[in-house]
Amino acid sequence: MFFNLFKTKREPRPIFEALGTDMHCHLVPRVDDGSKCVEESIECLQTLKAVGYSKVFITPHFCVPRFPNNEEDIKARYEELKRQVKEAGVEIELAGIAGEYRIDSGFAPRLEAPRFLQIAGKYVLVEFPLHQQLMGCDELIFDMQMKGYEVILAHPERYPYLSVNSSRMEQLKNQGVYFQINALSLGGFYGDEARKKAYTMLDNKWVEFMGTDTHNTLYAQALSDLTCDRKVAKVLETYEFLNKTL
Ligand SMILES: [Fe+2]
Repeated sequence: MFFNLFKTKREPRPIFEALGTDMHCHLVPRVDDGSKCVEESIECLQTLKAVGYSKVFITPHFCVPRFPNNEEDIKARYEELKRQVKEAGVEIELAGIAGEYRIDSGFAPRLEAPRFLQIAGKYVLVEFPLHQQLMGCDELIFDMQMKGYEVILAHPERYPYLSVNSSRMEQLKNQGVYFQINALSLGGFYGDEARKKAYTMLDNKWVEFMGTDTHNTLYAQALSDLTCDRKVAKVLETYEFLNKTL
């Protein structure tokens, strides 16, 4: 107890310079379960800069009915945030607005008149429902691919029904789905199962992207703490992620 009083807080190390670009975060204020206000977004972006990122794509949830976001409205809000971030003097590039589209029962109509906000004009980030996947989701992904979209699945390590030992993950890889793990999964932020799965996926070379999935300052603080994790630093030094290509 006595010693804890004098425990100094460790400064973040810029270990994410190796990636350069974060391609998954929720920092458009008040549009989903992410940042609550512009000040919080700015604080999170300052942390992203401090841990080594130079470029960020923001990816709000698109999920009916919980977050019935509309692409045009999100674009306008993003432009406003970009202006405020510049005004605040945060030295990080806001490289674009995309989305994290949930493949659930409300997803199919999006394919009839697609307006997906894409990462780097190329990739569509999708997520599955956390506890049960939608029947027929592979067909929906296939339809997207047929329409010319490159599909990235957000945090496969977080879905309890998606085991690394089943053929399901391999099947998604064979279908040409890119995998994005969350940096915080490697530190156990989402529990031990997700941490183990993320490392196994890296061992299997199934991962193309790493994202922060920053929602608020709690995530940003956890990310800052993660920079002292040597095992994570080693992954960033040695693994070939595609973030740099964005
Ligand atoms: Fe997310």
